[in-house]
Amino acid sequence: MRKIAFLRSVGIRRADPYIQQAVRGLAAEGIEAGLFHTSGTPGDDDFPGHRHRLDRGITPLRLAGLVADWGADAAVSISLPCENALRDAAAASYLEAVGIPTVMTPLASTMLLVDKWETKQLCRRAGLAVPDGFRADAGLLAGRGLPVPGYRDALRAEAARIGYPLMAKPVWDSTSTGIRTLRTPAALDAWLAGPPQASAVLEAVVEGDLCSVDIVGRPGAYQVLPLCWTGRAGAEPVFTFADLRWCGPRPEADAAFEAVARDLVTLCGQLGVHGSVNVDLVHADGGFSVLEVNPRVGGATTLSCAASGTNTYATLARMARGLPPAHGPVRRAGWAVEFLAEDGIPPRARAALREAVDVVTVHELVIDGVSRGDIAVLTLPEGAEAATVRALTALHAATGFPGPDVLGKLTRLLVP
Ligand SMILES: Nc1ncnc2c1ncn2[C@@H]1O[C@H](COP(=O)(O)OP(=O)(O)O)[C@@H](O)[C@H]1O
Ligand SMILES: [Mg+2]
Repeated sequence: MRKIAFLRSVGIRRADPYIQQAVRGLAAEGIEAGLFHTSGTPGDDDFPGHRHRLDRGITPLRLAGLVADWGADAAVSISLPCENALRDAAAASYLEAVGIPTVMTPLASTMLLVDKWETKQLCRRAGLAVPDGFRADAGLLAGRGLPVPGYRDALRAEAARIGYPLMAKPVWDSTSTGIRTLRTPAALDAWLAGPPQASAVLEAVVEGDLCSVDIVGRPGAYQVLPLCWTGRAGAEPVFTFADLRWCGPRPEADAAFEAVARDLVTLCGQLGVHGSVNVDLVHADGGFSVLEVNPRVGGATTLSCAASGTNTYATLARMARGLPPAHGPVRRAGWAVEFLAEDGIPPRARAALREAVDVVTVHELVIDGVSRGDIAVLTLPEGAEAATVRALTALHAATGFPGPDVLGKLTRLLVP
């Protein structure tokens, strides 16, 4: 094994510092890493290996061809969101056909998991709780193909059975894009009249705490990373990074999650998940409802790695080498907290932050090519909560960073 290709869609900095550690680890074994990516202009610090920038619209066949021409012995997909996971799963099927094993969930399963309606059916069959819902087909609503005169009323009847408010979620999209809350039958009528651009799942709103878990491995050997808490779920869809996102002690929820984790692992095994899935859930009334199972690394991957002292990218690289991934639940090592500074972090506060606390990464958050500010991830051991809040309060007094809103949230989380 001499060369491993990493397929990537979004900027690589979101995988900082774990991807660099994984690449250096491969180099130490005499293996060259190559980044085949469709976003940004990473430098040596971002990806200390071969880099190949590709056109965003590259086809899976062409992507596979370039990876094969480079001489890859194996490949790994670390793309997101779902449309790019699908691109890579298709590329993986071409790569496998020419004898280049690729760490990616098989295309047939990826095609199910990128679709929120299919995912709901899979979860339900696996014994997992999901919000009750139904599917609304954009083609039928737009009158394309077969006319179905009863279709709108059928959907209205389903909505009445479930009750309001309902959440309309495009079956494909991510980071809450396109999600609408429908509070009344009139709001449903207006939504149906649109007609919606994309087919959607309409489902019951679950009020509770949002959380996310990454599962990494292959059938028979999955690592379940610790649960990360990502905000509040309710009738208003919330920007994914609006709240603090954190991983820390929450013993009752962690205990209740164990059975859910087992069901998720069984589901992953049945689907042949190979690589990572990232599962979004809502914790309410002591239980967990699954919102979606993304067939890829997720937005909380850095946080899960930071909190558990593991490195998902290194695990994926091990798998690409044909080595067995570790399996079982991964213990949380301490706290990891992630927050967004929407106005960015001033350079002088950046250095001071690194002196004040244990910083895992600070980097710009770019979504769909648009900067959303700077995101920071820090870790602390249990027992260091008060000292950390004191250090951040002093940093705020000296530099104005973190802003009062973020500092208030950090304080309430760490020293409630
Ligand atoms: N049934 C639901 N009840 C309450 N909030 C929901 C529900 N479904 C989605 N949400 C909210 O919308 C966000 C995005 O939903 P999700 O299903 O994870 O889709 P995606 O992340 O692909 O946009 C969630 O993080 C949550 O804030
Ligand atoms: Mg989600």
